[in-house]
Amino acid sequence: MHSHTCGPETNRLQYRAFTDDDAESFFALNSHPDVMRFTGEPPVSSLGAARDAIANYRDFEDVGYGRWACILKETQAVIGFCGLKYLTDLNEVDVGYRFLPEFWGQGLATEACTASLEFGFTTLRLNQIIGLVLPANTASTRVLEKVGMQADGEFVYDGICVLRFFTRREAHVDNGVKSGELPR
Ligand SMILES: CC(C)(COP(=O)(O)OP(=O)(O)OC[C@H]1O[C@@H](n2cnc3c(N)ncnc32)[C@H](O)[C@@H]1OP(=O)(O)O)[C@@H](O)C(=O)NCCC(=O)NCCS
Repeated sequence: MHSHTCGPETNRLQYRAFTDDDAESFFALNSHPDVMRFTGEPPVSSLGAARDAIANYRDFEDVGYGRWACILKETQAVIGFCGLKYLTDLNEVDVGYRFLPEFWGQGLATEACTASLEFGFTTLRLNQIIGLVLPANTASTRVLEKVGMQADGEFVYDGICVLRFFTRREAHVDNGVKSGELPR
């Protein structure tokens, strides 16, 4: 199994796995209250916890893909993460993303999410990718809509009510239409 620690590149972003050198950026992102508000996860509590989380992240070894650090090409700074995660309990692949607030509203999550979907369908040959979002997270819901995903109702996941979106491979690859260009 190939481990895709380098992910896709977009107009403004590069993707790669987090390393120990990213601990401060990882901590800044995953401890920010505005970033964590709708994630359903507790904030990372310290720089040491950030280092541990990076060191213990096994998805690239286990399934060959994961959540990548998103690097802004212009500055080479880590400004967020985006990527795919295999959810064992659902037997589904989930797209996720998170960016520092100063970079919101510039279309970066849409750009990153589009690249993750294309990577999942073309490189990994996945048949379906889902997105799970808290219903109150309107910005994230909008991103999933913009990349061509369809809402599929709410369900309780890990004790939290989430809205499930999905999109299938044929909508992105087989008809030649790229994700993000689909009619709404
Ligand atoms: C969700 C998130 C990644 C979006 O990042 P972003 O780079 O600002 O997203 P984009 O600019 O690509 O698109 C955001 C869209 O949501 C819209 N939006 C933003 N805030 C909104 C709000 N409060 N209500 C309604 N729409 C909103 C924007 O107008 C834009 O839509 P448009 O292009 O039609 O105008 C960012 O807000 C974030 O990191 N949030 C914290 C982490 C998080 O919640 N991650 C998702 C977990 S499921």
